[in-house]
Amino acid sequence: VAPDPFAPTLADLRARRGRKWARFGPDVLPAWVADMDYGVAPIVAASLRQAVDAGDLGYPPEQLDAVAAAYANRVADRYGWEPDPELILVYPDVMAGIEHTLVQCTRPGDGVLVTTPVYPRFFRVITLAGRRVVGVPLTPGHRLDGDALAATMARERPTALLISHPHNPTGRVFDHDELTALGRAAVEHDAIVVSDEIHAELTYPGHEHRPLALLGPEVARRTVTVTSASKAFNLAGLRCAVAVCGDGAVHARLAATAGYGYEAVGALGVLATLAAWTPEGEAWLADCLAALEVNRDHLAARLAAELPAVGFVPPEATYLAWLDCRALDLGPRPAQWFLEQARVALAAGEDFGPPGAGFCRLNFATAPAVLDAVVDRLVTAIETR
Ligand SMILES: Cc1ncc(COP(=O)(O)O)c(C=O)c1O
Repeated sequence: VAPDPFAPTLADLRARRGRKWARFGPDVLPAWVADMDYGVAPIVAASLRQAVDAGDLGYPPEQLDAVAAAYANRVADRYGWEPDPELILVYPDVMAGIEHTLVQCTRPGDGVLVTTPVYPRFFRVITLAGRRVVGVPLTPGHRLDGDALAATMARERPTALLISHPHNPTGRVFDHDELTALGRAAVEHDAIVVSDEIHAELTYPGHEHRPLALLGPEVARRTVTVTSASKAFNLAGLRCAVAVCGDGAVHARLAATAGYGYEAVGALGVLATLAAWTPEGEAWLADCLAALEVNRDHLAARLAAELPAVGFVPPEATYLAWLDCRALDLGPRPAQWFLEQARVALAAGEDFGPPGAGFCRLNFATAPAVLDAVVDRLVTAIETR
Protein backbone atom coordinates (compact mmCIF):
# COMPACT_ATOMS: atom_id res chain seq x y z
CA VAL A 1 0.00 0.00 0.00
CA ALA A 2 1.10 3.57 -0.69
CA PRO A 3 2.11 5.52 2.41
CA ASP A 4 -0.48 7.98 3.71
CA PRO A 5 0.76 11.45 2.65
CA PHE A 6 -0.79 12.89 5.80
CA ALA A 7 0.93 10.45 8.15
CA PRO A 8 4.69 10.88 7.62
CA THR A 9 6.93 8.82 9.88
CA LEU A 10 8.95 10.42 12.62
CA ALA A 11 12.15 9.10 11.00
CA ASP A 12 11.30 10.87 7.74
CA LEU A 13 10.46 14.07 9.55
CA ARG A 14 13.69 14.02 11.56
CA ALA A 15 15.64 13.77 8.30
CA ARG A 16 14.16 17.01 6.98
CA ARG A 17 16.48 19.97 6.62
CA GLY A 18 13.94 22.77 6.90
CA ARG A 19 13.68 25.12 9.85
CA LYS A 20 10.87 23.36 11.66
CA TRP A 21 12.72 20.08 12.21
CA ALA A 22 16.28 21.44 12.14
CA ARG A 23 16.12 24.11 14.83
CA PHE A 24 15.91 21.86 17.88
CA GLY A 25 17.73 18.69 18.90
CA PRO A 26 16.56 15.13 18.21
CA ASP A 27 14.86 14.86 21.59
CA VAL A 28 12.44 17.72 20.82
CA LEU A 29 9.15 17.40 18.97
CA PRO A 30 8.63 20.61 16.98
CA ALA A 31 5.12 22.07 16.79
CA TRP A 32 6.04 25.70 16.37
CA VAL A 33 6.55 27.37 12.95
CA ALA A 34 3.62 27.32 10.50
CA ASP A 35 4.80 24.63 8.08
CA MET A 36 2.93 21.38 7.60
CA ASP A 37 4.65 18.03 8.07
CA TYR A 38 2.96 16.79 4.91
CA GLY A 39 4.54 16.83 1.50
CA VAL A 40 3.10 18.71 -1.44
CA ALA A 41 0.33 17.91 -3.92
CA PRO A 42 1.51 15.36 -6.53
CA ILE A 43 0.94 17.89 -9.33
CA VAL A 44 3.18 20.38 -7.52
CA ALA A 45 5.89 17.76 -7.04
CA ALA A 46 5.68 16.79 -10.71
CA SER A 47 6.03 20.37 -11.87
CA LEU A 48 9.02 20.99 -9.63
CA ARG A 49 10.65 17.70 -10.63
CA GLN A 50 10.25 18.53 -14.30
CA ALA A 51 12.02 21.87 -13.82
CA VAL A 52 14.85 20.26 -11.85
CA ASP A 53 15.27 17.40 -14.34
CA ALA A 54 15.39 19.88 -17.22
CA GLY A 55 17.80 22.17 -15.37
CA ASP A 56 15.24 24.91 -15.88
CA LEU A 57 16.21 26.89 -12.79
CA GLY A 58 17.05 30.30 -14.19
CA TYR A 59 15.26 33.52 -13.37
CA PRO A 60 11.49 33.25 -13.58
CA PRO A 61 9.67 35.02 -16.43
CA GLU A 62 9.61 38.81 -16.10
CA GLN A 63 5.91 39.01 -16.71
CA LEU A 64 4.13 37.03 -14.05
CA ASP A 65 0.74 37.50 -15.68
CA ALA A 66 0.04 33.77 -15.43
CA VAL A 67 0.21 33.93 -11.63
CA ALA A 68 -2.04 36.99 -11.52
CA ALA A 69 -4.55 35.38 -13.90
CA ALA A 70 -4.52 32.10 -11.94
CA TYR A 71 -5.24 33.96 -8.71
CA ALA A 72 -8.01 36.05 -10.28
CA ASN A 73 -9.65 32.92 -11.68
CA ARG A 74 -9.33 31.12 -8.38
CA VAL A 75 -11.01 33.79 -6.27
CA ALA A 76 -13.74 34.24 -8.87
CA ASP A 77 -14.55 30.52 -8.55
CA ARG A 78 -14.21 30.35 -4.79
CA TYR A 79 -15.75 33.60 -3.64
CA GLY A 80 -17.30 35.32 -6.63
CA TRP A 81 -14.63 38.00 -6.23
CA GLU A 82 -13.41 39.38 -9.55
CA PRO A 83 -10.30 41.47 -9.02
CA ASP A 84 -8.68 43.08 -12.07
CA PRO A 85 -5.64 40.91 -12.94
CA GLU A 86 -3.90 44.10 -14.06
CA LEU A 87 -3.92 45.27 -10.44
CA ILE A 88 -2.23 42.15 -9.07
CA LEU A 89 1.47 42.26 -8.20
CA VAL A 90 3.66 39.25 -7.52
CA TYR A 91 6.05 39.29 -4.55
CA PRO A 92 8.45 36.71 -3.15
CA ASP A 93 6.33 36.41 -0.03
CA VAL A 94 3.43 37.91 1.83
CA MET A 95 5.56 39.89 4.27
CA ALA A 96 7.35 41.61 1.36
CA GLY A 97 4.00 42.69 -0.05
CA ILE A 98 2.92 43.99 3.36
CA GLU A 99 6.14 45.88 3.95
CA HIS A 100 6.13 47.46 0.50
CA THR A 101 2.51 48.56 0.86
CA LEU A 102 3.07 50.10 4.29
CA VAL A 103 6.20 51.92 3.16
CA GLN A 104 4.54 53.32 0.04
CA CYS A 105 1.06 54.05 1.36
CA THR A 106 1.77 55.46 4.84
CA ARG A 107 4.27 57.97 6.20
CA PRO A 108 7.09 57.47 8.73
CA GLY A 109 5.68 57.68 12.25
CA ASP A 110 2.13 56.82 11.18
CA GLY A 111 0.16 54.36 13.25
CA VAL A 112 -0.66 50.93 11.84
CA LEU A 113 -3.49 49.14 13.61
CA VAL A 114 -3.27 45.42 14.34
CA THR A 115 -5.70 43.18 16.22
CA THR A 116 -3.83 41.40 18.98
CA PRO A 117 -2.76 38.71 19.67
CA VAL A 118 -1.36 38.51 16.16
CA TYR A 119 1.39 36.98 14.01
CA PRO A 120 4.62 38.34 15.55
CA ARG A 121 6.19 39.48 12.30
CA PHE A 122 3.41 42.07 11.98
CA PHE A 123 4.99 44.02 14.87
CA ARG A 124 8.40 43.69 13.32
CA VAL A 125 7.42 44.80 9.82
CA ILE A 126 5.64 47.88 11.18
CA THR A 127 8.51 48.82 13.47
CA LEU A 128 11.23 48.23 10.86
CA ALA A 129 9.29 50.42 8.43
CA GLY A 130 9.45 53.23 11.01
CA ARG A 131 5.71 53.11 11.66
CA ARG A 132 3.98 52.82 15.02
CA VAL A 133 2.16 49.70 16.22
CA VAL A 134 -1.39 50.45 17.37
CA GLY A 135 -2.77 47.29 18.98
CA VAL A 136 -6.45 46.56 19.58
CA PRO A 137 -7.10 43.37 21.54
CA LEU A 138 -9.64 40.88 20.24
CA THR A 139 -12.43 40.05 22.67
CA PRO A 140 -11.86 37.05 24.99
CA GLY A 141 -13.96 35.06 22.49
CA HIS A 142 -11.46 36.02 19.76
CA ARG A 143 -13.86 38.37 18.01
CA LEU A 144 -13.01 41.73 16.45
CA ASP A 145 -14.10 44.33 18.97
CA GLY A 146 -15.94 46.95 16.89
CA ASP A 147 -16.25 49.48 19.73
CA ALA A 148 -12.61 49.22 20.76
CA LEU A 149 -11.62 49.47 17.13
CA ALA A 150 -13.63 52.64 16.57
CA ALA A 151 -12.36 54.21 19.81
CA THR A 152 -8.74 53.38 19.02
CA MET A 153 -9.04 54.67 15.47
CA ALA A 154 -10.43 57.96 16.79
CA ARG A 155 -7.71 58.28 19.42
CA GLU A 156 -4.61 57.05 17.57
CA ARG A 157 -5.49 57.99 13.98
CA PRO A 158 -3.67 55.09 12.32
CA THR A 159 -3.41 55.46 8.56
CA ALA A 160 -3.41 51.72 7.91
CA LEU A 161 -4.99 48.58 9.32
CA LEU A 162 -3.10 45.33 8.97
CA ILE A 163 -5.27 42.30 9.58
CA SER A 164 -4.71 38.57 9.54
CA HIS A 165 -7.91 37.16 8.02
CA PRO A 166 -8.43 34.33 8.89
CA HIS A 167 -6.64 35.13 12.07
CA ASN A 168 -3.29 33.77 13.17
CA PRO A 169 -3.04 32.65 16.01
CA THR A 170 -6.70 32.21 17.04
CA GLY A 171 -7.95 30.58 13.82
CA ARG A 172 -11.00 32.82 13.72
CA VAL A 173 -12.72 33.44 10.39
CA PHE A 174 -14.13 36.92 10.95
CA ASP A 175 -17.81 37.15 10.09
CA HIS A 176 -19.69 39.73 8.09
CA ASP A 177 -20.57 41.92 11.09
CA GLU A 178 -17.02 42.00 12.38
CA LEU A 179 -15.60 42.81 8.95
CA THR A 180 -18.24 45.46 8.34
CA ALA A 181 -17.26 47.25 11.55
CA LEU A 182 -13.63 47.11 10.50
CA GLY A 183 -14.37 48.34 7.00
CA ARG A 184 -16.51 51.18 8.35
CA ALA A 185 -13.72 52.33 10.67
CA ALA A 186 -11.23 52.30 7.80
CA VAL A 187 -13.53 54.32 5.53
CA GLU A 188 -14.42 56.81 8.26
CA HIS A 189 -10.76 57.52 8.99
CA ASP A 190 -9.58 57.22 5.40
CA ALA A 191 -7.13 54.46 6.29
CA ILE A 192 -5.86 51.78 3.96
CA VAL A 193 -6.39 48.14 4.84
CA VAL A 194 -3.82 45.45 4.26
CA SER A 195 -5.71 42.17 4.44
CA ASP A 196 -3.38 39.21 4.88
CA GLU A 197 -5.46 36.26 3.69
CA ILE A 198 -2.66 33.68 3.59
CA HIS A 199 -4.67 31.20 5.71
CA ALA A 200 -7.95 31.61 3.79
CA GLU A 201 -7.85 28.29 1.98
CA LEU A 202 -7.38 26.47 5.27
CA THR A 203 -10.95 27.26 6.34
CA TYR A 204 -12.84 24.25 7.69
CA PRO A 205 -16.29 23.10 6.58
CA GLY A 206 -18.98 24.98 8.47
CA HIS A 207 -17.17 28.29 8.14
CA GLU A 208 -16.88 30.62 5.21
CA HIS A 209 -14.00 32.91 4.42
CA ARG A 210 -15.05 36.12 2.69
CA PRO A 211 -12.32 38.28 1.17
CA LEU A 212 -12.34 41.72 2.75
CA ALA A 213 -12.45 43.28 -0.72
CA LEU A 214 -15.99 41.93 -1.14
CA LEU A 215 -17.31 44.40 1.44
CA GLY A 216 -18.22 46.94 -1.20
CA PRO A 217 -16.41 49.45 -3.41
CA GLU A 218 -15.49 51.90 -0.63
CA VAL A 219 -13.63 49.21 1.28
CA ALA A 220 -12.32 47.42 -1.81
CA ARG A 221 -10.59 50.47 -3.25
CA ARG A 222 -8.62 51.11 -0.05
CA THR A 223 -7.66 47.45 0.41
CA VAL A 224 -4.53 45.61 -0.59
CA THR A 225 -5.09 41.87 -0.24
CA VAL A 226 -1.94 39.82 0.18
CA THR A 227 -1.81 36.07 0.01
CA SER A 228 0.07 33.08 -1.26
CA ALA A 229 -0.35 29.39 -2.02
CA SER A 230 2.36 28.76 0.54
CA LYS A 231 0.29 27.94 3.65
CA ALA A 232 -2.47 25.82 2.15
CA PHE A 233 -0.07 24.00 -0.17
CA ASN A 234 2.96 23.84 2.09
CA LEU A 235 5.37 25.82 -0.08
CA ALA A 236 6.73 28.42 2.33
CA GLY A 237 10.34 28.00 1.21
CA LEU A 238 9.58 28.66 -2.45
CA ARG A 239 9.01 32.43 -2.64
CA CYS A 240 5.87 33.42 -4.50
CA ALA A 241 2.95 35.54 -3.27
CA VAL A 242 0.41 37.96 -4.70
CA ALA A 243 -0.90 41.40 -3.72
CA VAL A 244 -4.21 42.59 -5.13
CA CYS A 245 -4.56 46.37 -5.19
CA GLY A 246 -8.07 47.71 -5.00
CA ASP A 247 -6.98 50.97 -6.53
CA GLY A 248 -5.09 51.73 -9.75
CA ALA A 249 -3.04 54.54 -8.20
CA VAL A 250 -1.83 52.26 -5.41
CA HIS A 251 -0.92 49.62 -7.96
CA ALA A 252 0.98 52.16 -10.05
CA ARG A 253 2.93 53.37 -7.03
CA LEU A 254 3.84 49.86 -5.90
CA ALA A 255 4.75 48.76 -9.42
CA ALA A 256 6.99 51.81 -9.88
CA THR A 257 8.88 51.33 -6.62
CA ALA A 258 9.37 47.57 -6.44
CA GLY A 259 13.08 47.18 -5.70
CA TYR A 260 15.29 44.11 -5.77
CA GLY A 261 13.95 42.44 -2.65
CA TYR A 262 10.36 42.90 -3.67
CA GLU A 263 11.02 41.41 -7.07
CA ALA A 264 12.91 38.34 -5.88
CA VAL A 265 10.18 35.89 -6.81
CA GLY A 266 11.43 32.29 -6.98
CA ALA A 267 11.19 30.37 -10.23
CA LEU A 268 10.15 27.22 -8.37
CA GLY A 269 7.65 29.23 -6.35
CA VAL A 270 5.97 30.38 -9.56
CA LEU A 271 5.78 26.83 -10.94
CA ALA A 272 4.53 25.41 -7.65
CA THR A 273 1.87 28.09 -7.31
CA LEU A 274 0.57 27.56 -10.84
CA ALA A 275 0.43 23.80 -10.24
CA ALA A 276 -1.26 24.20 -6.84
CA TRP A 277 -3.99 26.43 -8.23
CA THR A 278 -5.42 23.70 -10.48
CA PRO A 279 -8.22 21.15 -9.99
CA GLU A 280 -5.58 18.50 -9.15
CA GLY A 281 -4.13 20.79 -6.52
CA GLU A 282 -7.61 21.44 -5.21
CA ALA A 283 -8.22 17.70 -4.73
CA TRP A 284 -5.05 17.40 -2.64
CA LEU A 285 -6.09 20.41 -0.58
CA ALA A 286 -9.46 18.81 0.18
CA ASP A 287 -7.68 15.67 1.47
CA CYS A 288 -5.28 17.81 3.44
CA LEU A 289 -8.08 19.78 5.09
CA ALA A 290 -9.87 16.56 5.99
CA ALA A 291 -6.71 15.25 7.68
CA LEU A 292 -6.26 18.55 9.52
CA GLU A 293 -9.85 18.51 10.71
CA VAL A 294 -9.39 15.04 12.19
CA ASN A 295 -6.26 16.23 14.01
CA ARG A 296 -8.00 19.37 15.22
CA ASP A 297 -10.91 17.44 16.69
CA HIS A 298 -8.65 14.78 18.19
CA LEU A 299 -6.52 17.46 19.82
CA ALA A 300 -9.62 19.15 21.23
CA ALA A 301 -10.90 15.87 22.66
CA ARG A 302 -7.59 14.96 24.27
CA LEU A 303 -7.05 18.42 25.76
CA ALA A 304 -10.57 18.45 27.20
CA ALA A 305 -10.06 15.02 28.78
CA GLU A 306 -6.44 15.21 29.87
CA LEU A 307 -5.55 18.89 30.23
CA PRO A 308 -8.87 20.51 31.13
CA ALA A 309 -7.11 23.51 32.65
CA VAL A 310 -5.91 24.52 29.17
CA GLY A 311 -8.35 26.78 27.38
CA PHE A 312 -8.82 25.86 23.73
CA VAL A 313 -11.36 26.99 21.17
CA PRO A 314 -10.87 24.84 18.05
CA PRO A 315 -9.87 27.03 15.10
CA GLU A 316 -12.34 27.75 12.29
CA ALA A 317 -9.37 27.95 9.91
CA THR A 318 -5.61 27.24 10.10
CA TYR A 319 -3.77 24.29 11.62
CA LEU A 320 -2.85 26.36 14.65
CA ALA A 321 -4.17 25.75 18.14
CA TRP A 322 -4.08 28.77 20.44
CA LEU A 323 -3.74 27.34 23.92
CA ASP A 324 -4.63 29.38 26.98
CA CYS A 325 -2.18 28.04 29.58
CA ARG A 326 -2.72 30.76 32.18
CA ALA A 327 -4.45 28.46 34.65
CA LEU A 328 -1.46 26.11 34.60
CA ASP A 329 0.76 28.69 36.31
CA LEU A 330 3.87 27.94 34.28
CA GLY A 331 5.46 31.35 34.79
CA PRO A 332 5.80 34.16 32.26
CA ARG A 333 6.99 31.97 29.38
CA PRO A 334 4.90 28.80 29.12
CA ALA A 335 6.34 27.79 25.73
CA GLN A 336 9.83 27.89 27.22
CA TRP A 337 8.58 25.80 30.15
CA PHE A 338 7.15 23.19 27.75
CA LEU A 339 10.36 23.18 25.73
CA GLU A 340 12.43 22.49 28.83
CA GLN A 341 10.06 20.18 30.68
CA ALA A 342 8.18 18.40 27.88
CA ARG A 343 10.72 18.69 25.05
CA VAL A 344 8.00 20.05 22.78
CA ALA A 345 8.64 23.27 20.81
CA LEU A 346 5.59 25.53 20.68
CA ALA A 347 5.31 29.15 19.51
CA ALA A 348 5.49 31.53 22.47
CA GLY A 349 2.24 33.40 23.08
CA GLU A 350 3.99 36.46 24.48
CA ASP A 351 5.49 37.10 21.03
CA PHE A 352 1.97 37.71 19.68
CA GLY A 353 1.47 40.91 21.68
CA PRO A 354 0.30 41.63 25.23
CA PRO A 355 -2.90 39.53 25.08
CA GLY A 356 -0.74 36.51 24.19
CA ALA A 357 0.89 36.36 27.64
CA GLY A 358 0.29 32.94 29.15
CA PHE A 359 -0.62 31.35 25.80
CA CYS A 360 1.18 28.92 23.48
CA ARG A 361 0.49 28.15 19.83
CA LEU A 362 0.59 24.52 18.78
CA ASN A 363 0.86 23.49 15.12
CA PHE A 364 -1.15 20.30 14.63
CA ALA A 365 -0.37 19.77 10.92
CA THR A 366 1.52 16.57 11.49
CA ALA A 367 0.99 12.82 11.52
CA PRO A 368 -1.68 11.69 14.01
CA ALA A 369 0.95 9.59 15.80
CA VAL A 370 3.27 12.57 16.15
CA LEU A 371 0.42 14.74 17.41
CA ASP A 372 -0.36 12.07 20.01
CA ALA A 373 3.28 11.99 21.06
CA VAL A 374 3.22 15.78 21.43
CA VAL A 375 0.11 15.69 23.60
CA ASP A 376 1.50 12.77 25.64
CA ARG A 377 4.57 14.84 26.43
CA LEU A 378 2.57 17.92 27.41
CA VAL A 379 0.32 15.86 29.67
CA THR A 380 3.21 14.00 31.32
CA ALA A 381 5.11 17.23 31.96
CA ILE A 382 2.10 18.78 33.67
CA GLU A 383 1.25 15.64 35.66
CA THR A 384 4.77 15.09 36.93
CA ARG A 385 5.83 18.65 37.71
C1 LIG B 1 -0.68 35.68 8.94
C2 LIG B 1 0.60 35.35 8.28
N1 LIG B 1 1.12 36.20 7.39
C3 LIG B 1 2.28 35.96 6.77
C4 LIG B 1 3.00 34.81 7.03
C5 LIG B 1 4.30 34.61 6.33
O1 LIG B 1 4.12 34.53 4.98
P1 LIG B 1 5.33 34.70 3.99
O2 LIG B 1 6.32 33.62 4.32
O3 LIG B 1 4.70 34.53 2.65
O4 LIG B 1 5.87 36.06 4.19
C6 LIG B 1 2.50 33.89 7.94
C7 LIG B 1 3.26 32.68 8.23
O5 LIG B 1 2.92 31.88 9.05
C8 LIG B 1 1.28 34.17 8.58
O6 LIG B 1 0.77 33.33 9.48
